[in-house]
Amino acid sequence: MSELVFPEGFLWGAATSAYQVEGSPLADGAGVSNWHRFSHTPRMTHNGDTGDIACDHYRRWEQDLDLMAGLGLQSYRFSISWSRIFPDGTGRINQPGLDFYQRLVDGLLARGITPNATLYHWDLPAALDDRGGWLNPDVAHWFTEYATTVFRALDDRVPMWSTLNEPWVVMHAGYMAGEHAPGHRSTWEAPRVSHNLLRAHASAVRAYRAEGRGRIGLVVNLEPKYAASGRPEDVAAQARAEAYMNRQYLDPVFLGRYPDELRDLLGEAWPAHADEEAEAESLREPIDWLGINYYTRAVTRDEPGDLPVREGRVRQERHTHTEMGWEVYPPALTDVLVWVRDRYGDVPLYITENGAAFYDPPVAEEDVVEDPLRVAYYRDHLRAVREAIRRGVDVRGYYAWSLLDNFEWSAGYAKRFGLVHVDHQTQRRTPKRSARFYADVIRGNGAALGPG
Ligand code: BGC
Repeated sequence: MSELVFPEGFLWGAATSAYQVEGSPLADGAGVSNWHRFSHTPRMTHNGDTGDIACDHYRRWEQDLDLMAGLGLQSYRFSISWSRIFPDGTGRINQPGLDFYQRLVDGLLARGITPNATLYHWDLPAALDDRGGWLNPDVAHWFTEYATTVFRALDDRVPMWSTLNEPWVVMHAGYMAGEHAPGHRSTWEAPRVSHNLLRAHASAVRAYRAEGRGRIGLVVNLEPKYAASGRPEDVAAQARAEAYMNRQYLDPVFLGRYPDELRDLLGEAWPAHADEEAEAESLREPIDWLGINYYTRAVTRDEPGDLPVREGRVRQERHTHTEMGWEVYPPALTDVLVWVRDRYGDVPLYITENGAAFYDPPVAEEDVVEDPLRVAYYRDHLRAVREAIRRGVDVRGYYAWSLLDNFEWSAGYAKRFGLVHVDHQTQRRTPKRSARFYADVIRGNGAALGPG
């Protein structure tokens, strides 16, 4: 039995983010965010979908907290909307915005659920975007002002914080590929944005050290890269892809330097710093925990047309793929956890997101939605986490992505990641089979996963 269960105190939770679930983006004095703008720009999202209503969580939060309690969730990872707190990005504080999160946190605690708050999950105040957003070096000050305000309001009740969610996606989708707000496509901007994200992160961690009482970390998305063959070109492509996606943020945070491959692949787009070593070293600020979001892996080959990384992906036809087109490959989750421990040392790890979009009907006909592929996804990935723990990796918790079917960014409402089905016409919530399965897993601290 002890072989099957997770370590005592392992934290079981689910995650969401503000713009994806809250709706009412302009309520009670909130300012406009970059995602509000982006989703309201023609052709930027599937079907023109926006976060105007989303899951209406801003108004239905109590019902959603009851849902979480019903599933036995021990922790809830949510994000705070910067533009609700600072409508203009800096300066004037909007108290009703803070009040919303105070109520949410109190409601969680009243139900015995540990709050885990993310400060930035991609919705930047539009007023700051007008000043260059993540390209403006001042963003580190703006972010620290916002972070400090939120710490002061909530730190007495929130024991776990993270600064940024997935800086790679902020940089790549927002400034390199143009798929997310603000929709830029610039190789030149990308490394500057990365650097400012890391500066903002380090500065907020320093601010937290000055007055915080809980634990603060960073959340990154990791997609392990496997070379498609032993050809030197493919092996080099693997290294470039890994540097770009997986080491670009972790190397500076833990080792105080950028990966060498980045400089090579970005060429003249690489920013000239007066003292590059000191600049990178200033990003190394000890964190209390690291959050890893894992969805899939990539089998990588050299693809000269794919600039600047030149990463080609070899689709693994024998494996299942989710509605996002992502390969289902649980062993890579074990691999990546072992890789992080071996490369960066023994920092406490949490899986802060893991889950899958599979087809679910828009309307739930029964009182449970059958989602066998998602049940299998959770079972196999949780077993992969357990395997990493067996290999001595210090994994302390797991958050399913996501609690609810929600606004999947540029894919709008077309992709469903929820444990709980949301009818986007009526807002009716219906647990899926995966929610019941996950509740069983939590109840037995992993025993329901069985051997394997
Ligand atoms: C993000 C979520 C997103 C999920 C599925 C992660 O990259 O943090 O906001 O919904 O992946 O695409």
